[in-house]
Amino acid sequence: MKILALESSCDETATAILEFDEQHNATVLAECVYTQAKEHFDYGGVVPEIASRAHLEKFDQLIAKTVKDANIQYSDLDAIAATTGPGLLGGLLIGTMYGKSLALSLDIPFIPVNHLEGHALTANLTNKVEFPYLLLLASGGHCQFIEVKDFGEYEIIGGTIDDAVGEAFDKVAKMLKLTFPGGPKLEKLALGGNPNAYKFPEPLKHKGLDFSFSGLKTSVRTEILKHEELTEQHRKDIAASFQQTVVNLVIHKVKKALKETNMKRFVLAGGVAANTMLRAELETFCKKNNTELTLPAIKWATDNAVMIGYAGGIRYFDKSCNKESENLEAKPTPRWPLANLKKVEL
Ligand code: KG4
Ligand code: ZN
Repeated sequence: MKILALESSCDETATAILEFDEQHNATVLAECVYTQAKEHFDYGGVVPEIASRAHLEKFDQLIAKTVKDANIQYSDLDAIAATTGPGLLGGLLIGTMYGKSLALSLDIPFIPVNHLEGHALTANLTNKVEFPYLLLLASGGHCQFIEVKDFGEYEIIGGTIDDAVGEAFDKVAKMLKLTFPGGPKLEKLALGGNPNAYKFPEPLKHKGLDFSFSGLKTSVRTEILKHEELTEQHRKDIAASFQQTVVNLVIHKVKKALKETNMKRFVLAGGVAANTMLRAELETFCKKNNTELTLPAIKWATDNAVMIGYAGGIRYFDKSCNKESENLEAKPTPRWPLANLKKVEL
């Protein structure tokens, strides 16, 4: 079974073709990702209207290249999957319409995919991590602790009451005059700084599994405003201290989540998984605590279409779904919680 997948929920335009065998194991035949960095650069963040136009402009060439790289014909495809939510409405509309049109013209099923389910299942595809596992999805747009119990069975056990982790990195980076997306630039700046120079608060540390970053951001802003002229060393020290605070907080919550769920496997996903300090401290922590840690390659941890193809393929095999009658009705859904998904019957 060969499936072409489209992802356009935020600022990555991505395509992939996966092949499934009868045991539902998948192989990636080809993939393309176009990251809209220059389109949004001047605005310091993702502009939804610009994002959807860029998806529309890119899909044709990306799909053609992916089909060519996979060395197949369009007629070899058995299904088309696209992210139909959650995400920015304009981008979801482009992907959904594109996917449905292709499926109709090839007379094959269209599979609507929940973007978060894509993230949740990636480790099962790329690293063969077995269910159940605990996942922390930490990107610019998402911040969730998810118990991944089986295909289609997810429990959200924590989230954020304000910013996502990556978003907090980006906002503090902006305060330090770094350009968007600031997370990786803040990490670089922190290299020359003292992580113990400032003692920033760790919001909600002892309260459940939710995160909050507004108090921490305010504290960083207050520190910056104290200095009439911020020297290079001040900037580095603030970056390093902020990063250390976030890493401490994440490790603390991971420890708590593992304890509460009794899970022995932990997976980190989302753009923040690129943070070297967080990766290193998680490795140390998991080794000490006898927890199997999976840190997928960054290209699988951030937005991509391979994860949409995998979730879509699994849904294609779902015996409880009547693809012909149900799926062309699917609408772009900007808010679509994982908990609303149906368990897959393979
Ligand atoms: O998953 P992703 O590419 O896109 C979504 O937000 O969905 O994640 C991007 C986020 C941005 O907020 C970016 O600043 C953050 O991940 N990020 C990092 C690092 N690399 C990317 N945050 C901290 N340290 C990094 N090295
Ligand atoms: Zn995502």
